[in-house]
Amino acid sequence: MARGKFLSIEGGEGAGKSTQVRRLADELRARGVDVIVTREPGGSEGGEAIRDLLMQGDVKRWSSHTEALLFAAARADHVEKVIQPALGIGTWVISDRFIDSSRAYQGVAGGIDDAAVLALHGFGSRGLLPDRTLVLEVSPEIGAERAAARDGAAADRFAARERAFHDDVAAAFRRFAAAEPDRVRLIDAAGDVDEVATEVIEAVADLLP
Ligand code: TYD
Repeated sequence: MARGKFLSIEGGEGAGKSTQVRRLADELRARGVDVIVTREPGGSEGGEAIRDLLMQGDVKRWSSHTEALLFAAARADHVEKVIQPALGIGTWVISDRFIDSSRAYQGVAGGIDDAAVLALHGFGSRGLLPDRTLVLEVSPEIGAERAAARDGAAADRFAARERAFHDDVAAAFRRFAAAEPDRVRLIDAAGDVDEVATEVIEAVADLLP
């Protein structure tokens, strides 16, 4: 049996990732593809337990290094318990965030070498990379507006960081797309939900059965 395809969706706060993940899953199912939707940090029982450690508490609760280890540990559990088993039986997997979030947030914005982030990924998750990564891009203004409308005062440790941090994250994703154009595609996510959903499906069209 053919392995399932592994897709990840990335982007800054308020880019509309979770809506597009659902839309993409619906589109794939309509084409007869078996697909599961999952997220990071989290996605498995152990991954979700680590997520709670990561998302709660003060912005400075963890150093960048500790944070990178926790994300890598959460991802290792997620890959081993959920992602690989699904791909192995031919099911497609869409993950709301994956390794490129660690490279952007802990790496570029958090000051850790990309090579170090990838080394943790090599150890924890045997370096598994998505077949396609879609980066949803919106301006920082639109992102902040959408995130505020969604979260109100309940911003998590990451959303609470300052503008420069989020600008670094956005620049990092653009750099990854330039460096790995086959895997990483930028999607203009400023439009309405249907427009963005069309762009997303076009960006995986070559992978469809
Ligand atoms: P989440 O509530 O899932 O928000 P979002 O809708 O923005 O995806 O929060 C996940 C946060 O964790 C988000 O701010 C990005 C951050 N993150 C990292 O810093 N490194 C990582 O490896 C991952 C997966 C997420």
